[in-house]
Amino acid sequence: NTNWVYIKDLKNHVDELVEFRGWVWNKRSSGKIAFLQLRDGTGFIQGVAEKKDFDDETFEKIRKIKMETSVILRGIVKKDERSPFDVELSIKYIEIVHEPEEDYPISKKEHGIDFLMENRHLWIRSRRQFHILKIRNEVIKAIRDFFNENDFVLIDTPIFTGSIGESAGNTFQLDYFDYGKVYLAQTGQLYLEAAAMAFGKVFNLGPTFRAEKSKTRRHLIEFWMNEAEVAFYRHEDNIKLQESLVNFIVNRVLANCEEDLIEIGRDVDKLQKVSLPFDRITYREAVTFLNKKGFDIKFGDDFGADEETVIASQFEKPVFVEKYPRKIKAFYMQPSDEDPEVVMCDDLLAPEGYGEIIGGSERIWDEKLLIERLKECNLPVEEYKWYIDLRKYGSVPHSGFGLGVERTIAWICGLEHIREAIPFARTLYRVYP
Ligand code: 4AD
Ligand code: MG
Repeated sequence: NTNWVYIKDLKNHVDELVEFRGWVWNKRSSGKIAFLQLRDGTGFIQGVAEKKDFDDETFEKIRKIKMETSVILRGIVKKDERSPFDVELSIKYIEIVHEPEEDYPISKKEHGIDFLMENRHLWIRSRRQFHILKIRNEVIKAIRDFFNENDFVLIDTPIFTGSIGESAGNTFQLDYFDYGKVYLAQTGQLYLEAAAMAFGKVFNLGPTFRAEKSKTRRHLIEFWMNEAEVAFYRHEDNIKLQESLVNFIVNRVLANCEEDLIEIGRDVDKLQKVSLPFDRITYREAVTFLNKKGFDIKFGDDFGADEETVIASQFEKPVFVEKYPRKIKAFYMQPSDEDPEVVMCDDLLAPEGYGEIIGGSERIWDEKLLIERLKECNLPVEEYKWYIDLRKYGSVPHSGFGLGVERTIAWICGLEHIREAIPFARTLYRVYP
């Protein structure tokens, strides 16, 4: 009955005999000594087995052990300055739980991305993926803590919906019994607007779906969004809330995951530049700036990845681009009083080419204007009866936003592609595994 201790806690058990339960992810051996690289879900350490402590047959077994064999070990915890966990395990007893018959498919050699994605169910055991997904875990914890600490109420919004939340272009449609056509949620926003009229300050966090035909480093088909909506908030309040959230997330990751960031080779200095307030430029200013940089772009054109990257590269922290033309934004956005061609919206662009991590806006709160905009956008007004009701009974100005969770993680981790920011990515050509 030796004490089972996880790797992350071993440093509190130096010179004690403990039990380890986990996997051998690599090994190396000479005639007299075998080094087993061990992992247990909380970290990675080295185990050392010496021939003198085992009978010949057992030591041969240890020397020849296959990668990803699952084991229960007992051993003495030894101080080891070279280990990130300050310790290694001097193995005295080994029980093999399961030894693979075949060689583990993911070896130390370089693998192509298709092979790795095909084996994603195994790839998540690898060190780099482990650290990235630990950071994801921290980002999501931070989001929840931020909204809880600021007295927001969690409202879980539905996945099946009859009312298209963003635009008709990239919806997934399915048949819903006798009801007919419904969509997978592109956003929970419309439901959060209803909830804001009941609870004032609300948020959600869940999966959203977009049938994006574009195959880019920034697009997933299924991605997680964190949205917030606040009654009586205007554009300025909305911006402040968004920058506080992003600042909070980055500081949390720096405080709790610095080791993980270093392990994946992230330049932590870049993240340390994030501080309040963030910079802001208007869409009109951005167009002028882009023209100076040689982009052939005029008022009314949307920005693509290249434009966003050039704008963001002027800043060391995320930058807000505000007040886009009404014509290229969603139906629900409130036009500006001073400049009716633009809406009271913002996109938050991450540095280093990671693109838009937040989209937000003031919402139209006048019933007539909303119906007009729905018609202009060719959306079926009858499906929005409930949403229009919100403008019939005590309507108020309100604002909110949605943060793309994987885009945020891709930026914080410095990933080449968004597919590594989610455990099992759904992309244009992949739903396996
Ligand atoms: O800008 P979007 O489309 O905004 C909305 O859906 C609003 N209804 C949110 C709101 O105001 N409540 O999407 C929000 C964010 C984007 O800024 C981007 O970070 C992310 O979601 N996003 C994607 N992330 C990964 N893959 C995709 N295909 C994405 N599409 C949007
Ligand atoms: Mg957007």
